[in-house]
Amino acid sequence: METLLKINNLNLGFEIDDKFYPAIKDLSFELKKGTIHAIIGESGSGKTMSVMSIIKLLPKNAKITSGEILFEGKNLLNLKENEINKIRGKKIALIPQDPMTSLNPLYNIENQMIEAVIEHKKCSKKEAYDIAINKLKEVNVYEPEKKIKAYPFELSGGIKQRVIIATALALEPDIIIADEPTTALDVTVQAQILEILKEIKNKGKSIILISHDLGVVSSYADFISIMYSGRIVENAPCRVLFKNPKHPYTKALIEALPYNKEKKLKNIKGTPSPVNEIIEGCEFHKRCDYAEDICKSKIFHLCQQEDLSNVACRLYDC
Ligand SMILES: Nc1ncnc2c1ncn2[C@@H]1O[C@H](COP(=O)(O)OP(=O)(O)O)[C@@H](O)[C@H]1O
Ligand SMILES: [Mg+2]
Repeated sequence: METLLKINNLNLGFEIDDKFYPAIKDLSFELKKGTIHAIIGESGSGKTMSVMSIIKLLPKNAKITSGEILFEGKNLLNLKENEINKIRGKKIALIPQDPMTSLNPLYNIENQMIEAVIEHKKCSKKEAYDIAINKLKEVNVYEPEKKIKAYPFELSGGIKQRVIIATALALEPDIIIADEPTTALDVTVQAQILEILKEIKNKGKSIILISHDLGVVSSYADFISIMYSGRIVENAPCRVLFKNPKHPYTKALIEALPYNKEKKLKNIKGTPSPVNEIIEGCEFHKRCDYAEDICKSKIFHLCQQEDLSNVACRLYDC
């Protein structure tokens, strides 16, 4: 399988009151062409900052200190603002968590979609309209000619999210980053949006899907990265991860899934630490049933296993 995007040892931190706090630590993963790669982690674990690094949409006080993000033979981290502008949206599109933030309440959908398409494609208004309608059909918007006349407030959350996906698709990106695209939506609508992402993938697009819910993405993802406190603790093909989870945090997440209730719902003890609380050694050691003294001082890096999973834990170190 062809690798489309490769992140190597990305480190990012925040400056807060003249101090520097690491938030993304040695992040590495590959996005294979035509797959959905899910990044799973609790709120605050660094999922959004990881993907925002790819398209350089970071807060002012964020600083990338090392690493590389390889796409089409270039390290995206070295690109100038005007060069990254040519990639953002056009080649790598972002679907944000809250559809309201990316739709302008003052304009109808037609205006917004047409403007986005014309800006990128430099085509006529009529061509842009046809593209917009086609893409709305592609994401199963019923009566697209009618819906496209609507203002955002007239549409449900699910339809708004479809409009955003359709707008992203209209620019024909190679990679779609969906940052918790269903968190703001009802459960039934969630599944529909994930189905649409799967259909998009089946047409050859590559998707990075962020979620805090391992259960929700388990039937859609091809690969999964589990993040904890700014670090990927396990990377694996989805089937391998569920059949043979290795990192104690991954195991705890799987055991906590609702369908494992009969196995006695196991809550993970403790809470994750905020960015300004620096933990020595493995970030998970205080919550880990398998922690030993070495885990309090040593950082374990991702280490490839025989079944192609990568695990950062003393139990699987190489
Ligand atoms: N501008 C900022 N300044 C300081 N800390 C930040 C800033 N933005 C995010 N953070 C912190 O960085 C960590 C990772 O954030 P984020 O990537 O948004 O997490 P996630 O998407 O997994 O919920 C969090 O602990 C968050 O509080
Ligand atoms: Mg986030």
